[in-house]
Amino acid sequence: MRTGGMILGMAEGVGELELTVGQLAQRSGTSVSALHFYERQRLISSRRTAGNQRRYHRDTLRRVALIRIAQRVGIALVEIRAALETLPEGRVPSRRDWKRMSQGWQDELSERIRLLTHLRDNFADCVGCGCLSISHCALANPDDHMGVVGSGPRVLLPEEETG
Ligand code: FES
Repeated sequence: MRTGGMILGMAEGVGELELTVGQLAQRSGTSVSALHFYERQRLISSRRTAGNQRRYHRDTLRRVALIRIAQRVGIALVEIRAALETLPEGRVPSRRDWKRMSQGWQDELSERIRLLTHLRDNFADCVGCGCLSISHCALANPDDHMGVVGSGPRVLLPEEETG
């Protein structure tokens, strides 16, 4: 069967709307181990065939693309999962569902862009200093609003490191 310029395999239980893990890996440019990790993290899901092989709905390609892009811009997996959980269960999300989900991220992405712009504009000065002082470092404490969160380079460190 030819779909979207790709030939889908005829492995056990592969329907027109489903992909094996190998096909999903190939089509999404993601390693099989990463896909298994995403599934363990409940970011994607599959059904099992009678032979206990995973089958993914083709819409999973869209989810994997979103996960990879979100990870690349530094969005935590927990946030990605929360966003994906807003999509409907039991049916393939519509274009409207995806749009609603992405709109939920507008503020988060705007804030991230603002902080990254701040990082870009202050990195040269701070990299030669290294103090990351919460009281006066513009990088560690942009707009002096991170002091309420705690000490350290809040902008730069992931949540789990800043506690
Ligand atoms: S690292 Fe010292 S002022 Fe930013």
